[in-house]
Amino acid sequence: MQFPASLLATITLALLSVDARPVKRSNGMITLPIRKLQRDSNLHVELRHQQHMNRAERLVARAAGLPGPSDAQLSANLERRASFLSPSEKRFNRPSSDYLLPSEDSDSDISNLAVENDDTSSNSRPVLAQKSSDVQPEGNDASYVATVQLGTPSRDFVIILDSGSGDFWVESDVCVLDTDNSQGCGNHSFLSEASSSSFVNTHKDWSITYGSGAAAGELVTDTLVLGGMVLGNHTFGVAHNVSQSFASDRIADGLMGLGRGALSNQNTPTPVQSLVNAGFIKQAITSYRLPRIHDNVDVGEVTFGGLDNTKFDPSTLVTVNCTDNGFYIPVLDGITVNGASLTLLGTHAIMDTGTSLLVAPKQDAAAIHAKIPGAKLQNSGQYSVPCNTAASVALKFGGKEFAINPKDLVFASGGRTTGDCSSGIGAFTDDTARFLVGDTFLKAVYFSTNDGENTITLAKAI
Ligand SMILES: *[C@@H]1O[C@H](CO)[C@@H](O)[C@H](O)[C@H]1NC(C)=O
Ligand SMILES: *[C@@H]1O[C@H](CO)[C@@H](O)[C@H](O)[C@H]1NC(C)=O
Ligand SMILES: *[C@@H]1O[C@H](CO)[C@@H](O)[C@H](O)[C@H]1NC(C)=O
Ligand SMILES: *[C@@H]1O[C@H](CO)[C@@H](O)[C@H](O)[C@H]1NC(C)=O
Repeated sequence: MQFPASLLATITLALLSVDARPVKRSNGMITLPIRKLQRDSNLHVELRHQQHMNRAERLVARAAGLPGPSDAQLSANLERRASFLSPSEKRFNRPSSDYLLPSEDSDSDISNLAVENDDTSSNSRPVLAQKSSDVQPEGNDASYVATVQLGTPSRDFVIILDSGSGDFWVESDVCVLDTDNSQGCGNHSFLSEASSSSFVNTHKDWSITYGSGAAAGELVTDTLVLGGMVLGNHTFGVAHNVSQSFASDRIADGLMGLGRGALSNQNTPTPVQSLVNAGFIKQAITSYRLPRIHDNVDVGEVTFGGLDNTKFDPSTLVTVNCTDNGFYIPVLDGITVNGASLTLLGTHAIMDTGTSLLVAPKQDAAAIHAKIPGAKLQNSGQYSVPCNTAASVALKFGGKEFAINPKDLVFASGGRTTGDCSSGIGAFTDDTARFLVGDTFLKAVYFSTNDGENTITLAKAI
């Protein structure tokens, strides 16, 4: 079954118009609208959940300085997860009828459709994966993007915002796939000498490997405009080769790491640090209001230099020190479910906007779900919760409690309000000492990071 093209076009327009919101500037702060992108939508929801778990396993290992699982291990995880699907579901694709769900309750499905439409001006079906080797072990299917300007004359580039890395790059016009250098990097905006008169190539090599994908090229300097602030001589990367996941992404032209400067492979100031060095902002603060699409498409924004006090309840504000690591890792004081405190094994939380789920040490995931009415352990080792759960799961940081929105306790319900859905809280295969706290939690709060002080600030989002 096909979606009517007109409906898809409407949804796409609704999403793209988010970028039309103005940039805000006040008191040394700059606010850019952000919107959410979603990819790999043709996968069964359980397998998308596993992609997120794979990514989480890798990120938590990286943050601990451990090697982490291999690609083969992650693919095996996907195969294993598929083996638990019922015979009628035993496919790597979601049934086409899933596309017809109204999805008012699901961020993912609305934006999936928008991205699909971007790819299919014709009525073609999404490409179907027939077996696990056709599926990326890590989906990286939840990204937030913003628009910045580069070069002379100034042109728009849509970039993925990633709080788990520290490099900024866009594709160069000689960009090829790292697996097949006869293929270009998709229909994107590219940067080069040819397109920008202020472009200076330093001819220094640079490369980065992410959980899902890689990019490599040279360091250049050029003009970067962030929310109207002109950084005349910013150093960043142009990618001469990227992995398929970046090339096939129809909307993003590059990626901006918003993690701590210590994470920079390029060994150059991050854009946020450059804004401080240039005097546009006072502190290397990055603050997020992450959008939940079905609430209101227009709330998403990132603010550099401070906190946008129209987006949170100031009486709930708390700032917490982090451990000394490239990631933001505060102490997690505790978790309550419907008011009852749990005894936890995990002591710290890696805060990451690029992670979709909240992932708990195995034993703690069991303790949390034991208190959620109707939650069940699946054969896969992951949990389901009732699609209409109203449980209140709250995390405590700096002595203050912040509750997850019950809508976010459900991973990609596809609009279902009866039966069981995959839990938005994943279980690590091991009893790690750290939680990985992603969007399941972060959509309920205003979240701010301070690179200079190595702190995070949280408040209840409004
Ligand atoms: C991609 O870039 C890296 C680093 O510059 C290089 O080692 C590799 O050979 C390149 N791959 C292709 C296919 O060009
Ligand atoms: C590339 O994308 C632009 C808009 O994003 C579109 O106008 C153009 O037709 C596309 N080109 C191709 C070859 O698909
Ligand atoms: C731009 O920055 C680079 C590296 O930080 C420096 O070597 C160069 O002199 C600067 N150029 C200008 C015009 O400021
Ligand atoms: C946080 O760290 C700062 C200095 O790094 C210190 O002065 C302060 O007491 C710490 N706060 C807490 C609650 O530990």
